[in-house]
Amino acid sequence: MDHLRDKYIALIAEAADENTLEDLRVQAVGKKGEISLEMRALGKMSPEERQVAGPALNALKDEINSALAAKKQALSDAALDERLRTEWLDVTLPTRARNVGTIHPISQVWEEVTAIFAELGFAVAEGPQIETDWYNFDALNIPGHHPARAEMDTFYTHRTADEDRPPHVLRTHTSPVQIRSMEAQGAPIRIICPGRVYRADYDQTHTPMFHQIEGLAIDKDISMANLKWTLEEFFSAYFGRSVKTRFRASHFPFTEPSAEVDIQCSFKDGTVTVGEGDDWLEVLGSGMVHPSVLSAGGIDPNEYQGFAFGIGIDRIAMLKYGIPDLRAFFDSDLRWLRHYGFASLDQPNLHAGLSR
Ligand code: PHE
Repeated sequence: MDHLRDKYIALIAEAADENTLEDLRVQAVGKKGEISLEMRALGKMSPEERQVAGPALNALKDEINSALAAKKQALSDAALDERLRTEWLDVTLPTRARNVGTIHPISQVWEEVTAIFAELGFAVAEGPQIETDWYNFDALNIPGHHPARAEMDTFYTHRTADEDRPPHVLRTHTSPVQIRSMEAQGAPIRIICPGRVYRADYDQTHTPMFHQIEGLAIDKDISMANLKWTLEEFFSAYFGRSVKTRFRASHFPFTEPSAEVDIQCSFKDGTVTVGEGDDWLEVLGSGMVHPSVLSAGGIDPNEYQGFAFGIGIDRIAMLKYGIPDLRAFFDSDLRWLRHYGFASLDQPNLHAGLSR
């Protein structure tokens, strides 16, 4: 028994893994294990011999079983330690740098303008960028022969001779949304419509796609004075200082009277500053909605009148953020976007200040 004990205690101590340990268990205390065979031999002993050998064999069996259990625990502890040593993670390491995009200045200004007009009670309306020529022209009092159609450098969509749908254009201005809003909600109306517009024109100050914000207010007692107040209020909020406007008589087929509006600025050393000085910059077209336009939108011009305006978003973005070249807006140059872009969490609103 001493021999068996020494042998198995030594082997168990040496076992390097659980499989070896299991083999040892079978060899020692398994059904046909050495110790089990000894126990079976108890039957052939005399009662006196059995009284001594029986408890001793049981004790040996217990001893081997607990040595096996202890070793098994030690092996699994060691395995765990080894895993913990290799699978560690330094949670204090800085995270991998991520490329964060920026908000394009056009989007930023779009949001700023929307926030200001929302405070003034204007809702946002939208219309399609591919428009029928009726919404883009006819309903706005620009009939087929009108020179304004040619002046606008319109993109027409292709139409085969046998197609019976009306001609479609890429809208040349956001003014068709005036008609769509009149049709959709009737009077009174207070809406702005920010959006993309298209004209076949490309040079330093023109891109074939650019952005406008249409404004439309219709009610029973609306005058040019309301237009002027609204625009001055808007520009002062937008530029963060009081901005004078200059109304110049102009002509649009869809407004009567019509005015182009300039804002006060100074040109010094090649930089433009809005809200000071004696110079003027044209930023929008406007006027009182033409009676024919109200009728086209299903509103009675004898009962209602209103004002409308169209501001170039790109232009006022350049003025506010000192962006010198219009075409760079649409080049997708990453260096430009990082320089002129805005942090994505800088949401413009009037209370927090409009921008960083
Ligand atoms: N639609 C005109 C343009 O694109 C601007 C405008 C809008 C003028 C509303 C008067 C009223 O030039």
